[in-house]
Amino acid sequence: MWGGHFSRGPADAMQAINPSISVDRHLYRQDITGSRAHAAMLAACGIISKTDHEAILGGLKQIEQEISEGRFTFTDALEDIHMHVENRLAELIGDTAGRLHTARSRNDQVITDVRLFTREACANITSSTRRLQRALYTRADEHAETIMPGFTHLQPAQPVTLGHHLLAYMEMLARDAGRFADCSKRLNECPLGAAALAGTSFPIDRDMTAKTLGFTKPMGNSLDAVASRDFAVEFLAAGAILATHLSRLCEELINWSTPMWRFITLSEAFTTGSSIMPQKRNPDAAELVRGKTARITGSLMQMLTLLKSLPLAYNKDLQEDKEALLDVAHQLPLCLAAVEGMIADMQVHKERMHAAASSGYSTATDLADWLVQTLGIPFRQAHHITGKIVNIAEGKNIRLDELSLSDMQSIEPGITQDVFNRLSVEQSVASRMSYGGTAPYRIREQLRRWKRELDL
Ligand code: ARG
Repeated sequence: MWGGHFSRGPADAMQAINPSISVDRHLYRQDITGSRAHAAMLAACGIISKTDHEAILGGLKQIEQEISEGRFTFTDALEDIHMHVENRLAELIGDTAGRLHTARSRNDQVITDVRLFTREACANITSSTRRLQRALYTRADEHAETIMPGFTHLQPAQPVTLGHHLLAYMEMLARDAGRFADCSKRLNECPLGAAALAGTSFPIDRDMTAKTLGFTKPMGNSLDAVASRDFAVEFLAAGAILATHLSRLCEELINWSTPMWRFITLSEAFTTGSSIMPQKRNPDAAELVRGKTARITGSLMQMLTLLKSLPLAYNKDLQEDKEALLDVAHQLPLCLAAVEGMIADMQVHKERMHAAASSGYSTATDLADWLVQTLGIPFRQAHHITGKIVNIAEGKNIRLDELSLSDMQSIEPGITQDVFNRLSVEQSVASRMSYGGTAPYRIREQLRRWKRELDL
């Protein structure tokens, strides 16, 4: 391709380090789509003839078929997908193929491909996220009244409902979808026509290619167009945050399903057995999502590090931008589908959750609140009194609501029988009526909102 200026081929080590085809072959559809738009614009602007345009389109169509049907030969001798397509086009239509690269460089070509790819990836991830949200909705609706322990420091803190817990992830996922929507919107400008870095002397129509490719407008600075990858950083950041949310949820599923907790049983479809321990059911899918999160977060770091200190405009370092991006675009929908399946299929053991919620003096705050609301005791003092009452219950190894009134009165004489209306986990949960709180009334309110927002 540059034989005019070169008298020898690359060294073996160069030949080994140079190709990106193993990665960017997956961008063939975007590459051919970009070439079609470019060729149409060249023809419309009178830069290539109608006949050449038609020959180019015919060749591109055949190449697309050959690749999609697995009949295309890829070789490391040709660096990337752009060279493969151009080379094959020359085999198919002869010298006319050489006209396609007029007013274009691989620098604007590659980043057009990557932007098209990332835009599609945002849409894929968003629809997989929506499917997981629907699964969460269904289970939260089913368990709006199911009581479980709410934790801080992984210690039972106050009872909550399982519906409330699941809807917390619903909120996170909604923000995730919002981040991908923003990313998709911001990346949607067309770099094609920036050529190598400075623009081109040909009278091209950049609005036309932008429009044909579904971009909102051509990018306003040709150096920025070929050098910038902040859209990729944004995509990976949104991906790393989403993966982190999934990983937290998976960590919970793992905890919940351990036989020592047995809040849930994960379905056989998302677990594996052990080859040596017959009793085992391992939460592999959840662990894999947690593991893949490390890889996805690593990809974000890789992209940021790649860009740091990189002068304008294109540098070959940028060839290293695609592997992480393509990998994350592939892995995230897998993670989302696995979590969706686990949530949809998990069996919930309400009685186990209820028993755990009742342990650990989880309604102690309710007792303190009662002292404040009924006896007018300042909260700090009520907290102290409650601590002492908890000590008595602990000493007797019984729950708070199993204490006698006289036991309570030995610490605070003003306490009356009425306090026992506040100490069960059901009463505790029902009393958390503040907006966004765990009372089933509030959960139903949020479920109605999600039903609207998710179009259910
Ligand atoms: N394979 C290259 C990449 O992935 C394509 C662009 C090459 N441009 C260049 N000036 N060498 O980034």
